[in-house]
Amino acid sequence: MTTPPYNSTQAKPATVTLQTLRKMKQAREKIVMLTAYDASFAAMLDRAAVDIILVGDSLGMVVQGYATTIPVTMDDMVYHTRLVARAQQRAMLMADMPFMSYSDPQRALENAARFMQEAGAQIVKLEGGGDLAAVVEKLASNNIPVCAHLGLQPQSVHKLGGYRVQGRDPAAAEAMLLEAQAMQAAGADMILLECVPAALAQRITDSVSIPTIGIGAGPHTDGQVLVSYDVLGISCGRPPKFAKNFLADLKGSEEISIEAAVRAYVTAVRQGRFPDATQAMA
Ligand code: KIV
Repeated sequence: MTTPPYNSTQAKPATVTLQTLRKMKQAREKIVMLTAYDASFAAMLDRAAVDIILVGDSLGMVVQGYATTIPVTMDDMVYHTRLVARAQQRAMLMADMPFMSYSDPQRALENAARFMQEAGAQIVKLEGGGDLAAVVEKLASNNIPVCAHLGLQPQSVHKLGGYRVQGRDPAAAEAMLLEAQAMQAAGADMILLECVPAALAQRITDSVSIPTIGIGAGPHTDGQVLVSYDVLGISCGRPPKFAKNFLADLKGSEEISIEAAVRAYVTAVRQGRFPDATQAMA
């Protein structure tokens, strides 16, 4: 057996598993997810009992300063996932497959394998719906856990003509519901819904047995995710409407710190207090 290039003594097996997350869905316990791109942030999220740490390709915007996620490469993602894996202990580690890294099933398999073997990821996320069924099937049949990202897919921003709410009209809503079911049938273990009307996110959540995680998708998904920089109010440019600055929200509290802001987000999600009407998209 070869030694993995990440530090296997530090990157201990996550105690949050797919089974844990399914049980949480069944018990209607909210799943908490946040992004991290380095070891210090990952350790802090782990201490705050975040269930899933996402190494998102949002790093292209918040860390690398690009206008979109499109320039992010597999090498960038493997590097940052490896940094996070060194610190994460309890949470599940999800790595985002960057633009064009899953354009066909074989390519997707090779790149997902890099995430698992070289970086220590435990699940990969890819943007797309029904047309990705063959890719999801290929990964699932090779025992690679998959999260399918539906709704607003930032890697398709030029095709979509901007970052807009998806699934607003009845035909588009029906198509997204079918896509979610197709992803589950293809073997996806989780569905992420970005910028989707709350009522549609609820229908999708009720129609699949795998957990759904929302961002700008209302309060009814099984869990919530935000870009951690938005939670702390340090994003470049205008933050999205669905985000909340939990650090600013601590004004007047006993402890004002980054870690306290992360804990406030975790508690608000667990107690069903985030998102509220202030963050509603549709
Ligand atoms: O890249 C990312 O951080 C994401 C979240 C916005 C869900 O995909």
